[in-house]
Amino acid sequence: MQYRGLTQSEYPRLLDLLEEVNIAPREYFRNLYDLDPYEDPELSRVAVDGGRFVGHVRVFPRPHGGGAAQLWSGAIANVGTLADYRGRGVCRQLLEDSVALMRKRGMHYSTVLSGVPVYGKCGWEELPRTGHLVSVHDVRLPMPHDWSVRIFVRERDLVQVAAIYEEFNRERPLAVQRSMDYWFANLNTAIETSSLFLVVEQNGEVAAYMRGHQKGDAVTCLEAAHRCGAEQAYAALAWVFSRYYRKCLWRTVRLRLPGDHPLIASLSAVFRVDQVTVPHLWMRLVDLAGLLESFAPLWSRRIATARVPGSSCCRLQCADQEAVLRLGATSSVEASTRSQTVSSGLPTIALSQRELFELIFGVSSDAVRRVLTGPRERRLWEAALRGPAAVYWGADDV
Ligand SMILES: CC(C)(COP(=O)(O)OP(=O)(O)OC[C@H]1O[C@@H](n2cnc3c(N)ncnc32)[C@H](O)[C@@H]1OP(=O)(O)O)[C@@H](O)C(=O)NCCC(=O)NCCS
Repeated sequence: MQYRGLTQSEYPRLLDLLEEVNIAPREYFRNLYDLDPYEDPELSRVAVDGGRFVGHVRVFPRPHGGGAAQLWSGAIANVGTLADYRGRGVCRQLLEDSVALMRKRGMHYSTVLSGVPVYGKCGWEELPRTGHLVSVHDVRLPMPHDWSVRIFVRERDLVQVAAIYEEFNRERPLAVQRSMDYWFANLNTAIETSSLFLVVEQNGEVAAYMRGHQKGDAVTCLEAAHRCGAEQAYAALAWVFSRYYRKCLWRTVRLRLPGDHPLIASLSAVFRVDQVTVPHLWMRLVDLAGLLESFAPLWSRRIATARVPGSSCCRLQCADQEAVLRLGATSSVEASTRSQTVSSGLPTIALSQRELFELIFGVSSDAVRRVLTGPRERRLWEAALRGPAAVYWGADDV
């Protein structure tokens, strides 16, 4: 069996394989690869047996923000092995081959959104996220003064929506940094049962938007953002929800939003909202030192702004990697190997991948407390991580 990258002329054969594995229609994949701003056939890793394509994994490079210097994620998708080759380690080999490519291309970590637990067996760890379940009921709300809600019109609204997205997500870990090319591709390829894209306007200007999809009486909100100071716009969306209860039979709304999102507060004021855990986001570390280096300038800035004195130095170990981190108003990172630092006398913090991501993405507020015990260390980390909550927008799924 050979594991390698695809070549441009082999795309038709790849589409044949994907059709046979039956993940989605052929046209979906053709569109997905043609439009992707980071398109490169090498990103498709194929297993070839005697000239026959028998398995595939695609890596989608995605720039993430989080206020750090450029971070790159390798998003894994379009994974499949032919039925008569399953259970023989083909997918495992393809995933390893994909991680090797990510390393070569300077990516920092990998994400997969999937309900299939194969990734847990192959080195990824699940990162649970908080979601909310809204029980919509019949209530007659007044439409908030000054606001209006309408369907998104691409030609008219995209520039404003993209600017709102960028402002809202700039400092949020895990959020994709979207270029205009990315927006066009994303709007053309997102698979949605029934697409729902609403904008909220004030004085003819878009102030907030919500993207989701509807299936039966359930609506899933995949993404929502607002201009700075326009939190009131969400009261207009609550009005829409109450109206659509009668008109379109919306009964349940799933919110895949970060815990600090004001739409949750707006809806909680009217409807019952229960907190739930959203599973299926898997992550794997690719380059520990590179990841910490990207965050170091941001952490230095935040520590300096919070005027936390001193610094703290430790060896961070995660998966099979290690780095020495000096955290302070001038933070620095040095890649190291276990044998180099074993006699250095520095305190060692060994983290699982999940703990590492929870810690640096601020996904779980107790991660700092659980992992770091010294009071000085904790003050430095708390200052470094003082930012908005991480978010993995469902609309970015491939
Ligand atoms: C999921 C799929 C890609 C796995 O391919 P495969 O080549 O059979 O996988 P491997 O043999 O490399 O298995 C690797 C590990 O994952 C486990 N695994 C494989 N499929 C699994 C599944 N569906 N659920 C749980 N574990 C699974 C294997 O047991 C193995 O672990 P082990 O070594 O500890 O026993 C294949 O079943 C498939 O193509 N399914 C249909 C399409 C699909 O679901 N794609 C994934 C969408 S995200």
